[in-house]
Parts: sequence; structure tokens; C-alpha cells
Amino acid sequence: MYVCFNSTFEYIQSCIYNIYRPIVVFMKKKKENRTKEMKKPWPTKDAMEQVYEMKLWGDNNSDFYSGIGSHDPEIVNPYIAVLTSFLTSFKNPLVVCDLGCGDFNVGKELVRHTKKYIAIDIVKDLIEHNKSIFKEENLEFHCLDIAVDNLPSGDCAILRQVLQHLSNTEVQSIVSKLTDFKYVILTEHIPEGRFTPNKEIISGQGTRLKKQSGLDVFAPPFNFKVKEEKQLLSVILNDRKGVILTTLYNNF
Ligand SMILES: C[S@@+](CC[C@H](N)C(=O)[O-])C[C@H]1O[C@@H](n2cnc3c(N)ncnc32)[C@H](O)[C@@H]1O
Repeated sequence: MYVCFNSTFEYIQSCIYNIYRPIVVFMKKKKENRTKEMKKPWPTKDAMEQVYEMKLWGDNNSDFYSGIGSHDPEIVNPYIAVLTSFLTSFKNPLVVCDLGCGDFNVGKELVRHTKKYIAIDIVKDLIEHNKSIFKEENLEFHCLDIAVDNLPSGDCAILRQVLQHLSNTEVQSIVSKLTDFKYVILTEHIPEGRFTPNKEIISGQGTRLKKQSGLDVFAPPFNFKVKEEKQLLSVILNDRKGVILTTLYNNF
């Protein structure tokens, strides 16, 4: 095939293009691969350890801080009130498993209303820290990955602002274990109004809110089935920052 050039300049331009094009394509591919490698999810344990080490959820000058959602009185106080009301409504107090207990600023207010309170988190140093501070006869701390490990048995599972940070695969694995508990109390930070549920995220500091999404355990791919559902609390955050919704599920 003959290619006609109108000028020497055009000819030189074409030569340069033909020489450099494969190099540019090669460099572009290399950059794309590097970006893909960087986006490869970390193990959740490492991601959560980093969140606490680097104070990615903020800092209140303590060694471990689980974020404003665990400390702001406007968010925390009504939650403690509804949970207290639920837990004290039983003649025989419940065995509660707090899955993803965090810095325990919230959990510590519930222990006294339970028969036994089993608090679990994936971050070992956080669990050791909690053990050294919070000591009650009916309180146990365990370091477990709730997506991977077997869960202790109990009457009621509490998951407060935990699933919102986890990938769909991990949520799926956790949801499949929740049917062992008679009661499940789930708290999730979701967008206000309508949204596309369950968009995929990489487990870590962030939530689905950055994708204008939130968790809905009844929607695909989770399709959680329960006997009864009751909304216990809804806290609307200022500046359209979403809603923190607490729901009670009754499994049997
Ligand atoms: C935003 S904090 C909420 C803490 C607490 N539930 C509260 O409301 O104050 C989420 C917690 O879940 C824990 N977590 C995340 N994935 C976990 C997993 N797979 N197994 C156990 N804990 C996990 C994190 O380490 C973190 O402490």
C-alpha cells in the first residue's frame, strides 16, 4: 500500500507517530495494570487495622475511635434508648452478640441489660484495648472475622454500622449466619429517599454512600428472609448526609 504525503513535514510526522505509538500504547497499558493492582482489595482485617492506626474515622485523642456515628450524642443517645427499651422488655434477659463492636462507646451502655454480652471485632489490638477497659461479669470480647469465622450462639445479634463498610461477598456470608439468631438488630447509614441498593464496594473505611447507594438486606444479592421486621429508629443527618436506620428483624 502506498501512502501519499503532501509535504516532508507530514512524512516526518507520520514516521514519529509510527515509532512512538507502540511505546505510548505500552505505557498506557502498564499504567492501567498498575491502577488495577492498586485497587485490588486488601484483606478486611488489614483495612480495618489501618482505619484505626491512621485515625481514618477521626480522632478523640483515644487509642481507638470508631467515628462520629459511635460518639455524637444526637446519634448515639436515641439508639441507646430504643435498644434499652427492647432489651429490658424481656423477663429473661437475652444473650447478645455485638458483631463489629468497635471502640465500645455504644455497647458499654447495653451490657447491663443483657444476660451475657459477647462483643466481637476483627481488630485484635482494639479487642485487647477494650478488654483492659471494660470489665463486667457478663461481658466477653473476642477477636473474630464475622464474615469468615463461626459466630458464638446467642438470642440477639447486633450489627451497628458494620455491614455498610463491607463488600457484598462479605455481607452475603454474614447475612447467611444471621438466621441462627432469633433477633437481629441492624443499623445502616443509607442515602435519604430512593436509591439503588447494594452497589459493590471494597471493604474498608468508606461506605456505599459515596456511590449514592446503601444496604438493603432484602434486595438481591442478599435476599434475606425474616418472619417480622420493625423499624426502631431513624436519625436524619444534617446537610443531606443520609439517614441512620435501625431495624429489628425477628427470625423465628
Ligand atoms: C464503624 S465501626 C462501628 C462500631 C460499633 N458497632 C458502633 O456502632 O459504635 C465498624 C466496626 O466493625 C468492625 N468490623 C468490620 N469488619 C469486620 C469483620 N469482618 N469482622 C468483625 N468486625 C468487623 C471494624 O473493625 C469496626 O470496629
